[in-house]
Amino acid sequence: ARPEEPPSALPANPGLYVITQLLPFNPFDPAFRADPYPVYRKIAEAGPVTRTPGGTVVVTGHREVSAALRDPLIGWGDGQSVAEHFGRDPEGRPVRQFIFMDPPDHTRIRSLVSKAFTARAIERLRPRAAEITSRLLAAAGTSFDLMDAVAHPLPALLLGELMGVPEDNLDRFRAWSAAIGRGLDPDFVLTREQVAQRQGAREQFNQYFAELAARRRAEPAEDLMSALVAAEQEGDRLTETELVTTCTLLVSAGYALTVHLIGNGVLALLREPGQLAWLRANPDRLGGAVEELLRYDAPAQVISRVVLADTEIGGVPVRAGESLLLILGAANRDPAVYDEPDRLDLARQSGGRNLGFGHGIHFCLGAPLARLAVQAALTELIPLDLEIAEPGPRHTEGMVIRGLASLPVTVRGRA
Ligand code: HEM
Repeated sequence: ARPEEPPSALPANPGLYVITQLLPFNPFDPAFRADPYPVYRKIAEAGPVTRTPGGTVVVTGHREVSAALRDPLIGWGDGQSVAEHFGRDPEGRPVRQFIFMDPPDHTRIRSLVSKAFTARAIERLRPRAAEITSRLLAAAGTSFDLMDAVAHPLPALLLGELMGVPEDNLDRFRAWSAAIGRGLDPDFVLTREQVAQRQGAREQFNQYFAELAARRRAEPAEDLMSALVAAEQEGDRLTETELVTTCTLLVSAGYALTVHLIGNGVLALLREPGQLAWLRANPDRLGGAVEELLRYDAPAQVISRVVLADTEIGGVPVRAGESLLLILGAANRDPAVYDEPDRLDLARQSGGRNLGFGHGIHFCLGAPLARLAVQAALTELIPLDLEIAEPGPRHTEGMVIRGLASLPVTVRGRA
């Protein structure tokens, strides 16, 4: 007898089959990678809260994503997925970065980190951001890859200064952060090798910061690592594991997303010369312009969550245990909130706050630093007459982080 054949409806690639069941889009489609926004619009046309055939709850509306991120019945729980990501500490307790925790642990660690991550610590970096950018551009010449020349090194150098990491140790951060960033995608869209790379990168980062923490305990310096060590020593409120995983979180989350806001932002400006000219003529509007660039093409496109107890999102009931996919990239272009959402409009006044830095209790802790870095990069880049060079921009792979692997440019002079 012939072995039973799989049902003909099942595609040859079981990976793709799973993806079509659990995701409302195919993250491997080159057209989606080049421009996911028409795909999001189609998903949103079926309603701001929908379900995939496999039962993932997909949220695309601005109001609904904001509500989900504020709902205490929506969080991380002790979900298997998170436990598998991080493994266990030497005492056998599950290890997590605080971005993946719920209150009260999240609240405790976030407030300790906020105390160390002061406005003063960040402001100190403002003149450094400008110096570093002009040094990087001077070294780049007239024909270069913007990602390699500026977008990657600037955040790495700033985060290095913030954390107290020596400059010659920063090279390895790029590969580690890339592996962790890609690893934010759900495991079912990753290869086994990518899952192993994510784990390896986290362990190497943790190891690196454990050693740095030991040095700062012996000899404190003027950096965030020393401030966190002080918090750890103050009455056992931050454990060694929490200290180390927090440092890894700050660097890996902060690095890749800042890199890609610089890249996505510069690409958007180069494709819209009228907007670039407006910004050159209105440099005092840079702050608002960066927010619009974040809305227009956010580096963090989706946020995952789990329903902790039965609740509703925008009137749609969701049940405990269901997985949520909150599409920030769709919410940021919700026509119910933004006029002409697909238009880049740096002077935009309309609409609510964009969700590019998240919302609610997990709102990006590094937003002031990210804004400072991107503003510094644009301040130096805007006066240049830049042109996209052959072979043109290339997007990175992955569905959570949206960014560029390369953006070749030529400097024609000063505008
Ligand atoms: C959280 C975006 C830069 C540190 C978040 C979240 C988003 C985000 C969307 C919410 C995640 C969620 O709710 O699950 C961005 C973007 C950045 C950026 C677009 C750059 C343009 C940074 C930087 C740092 C940082 C530079 C630190 C140095 C964090 C931390 C959290 C976070 C620690 C977790 C906060 C919490 O769970 O309470 N970020 N981020 N981010 N971000 Fe950022």
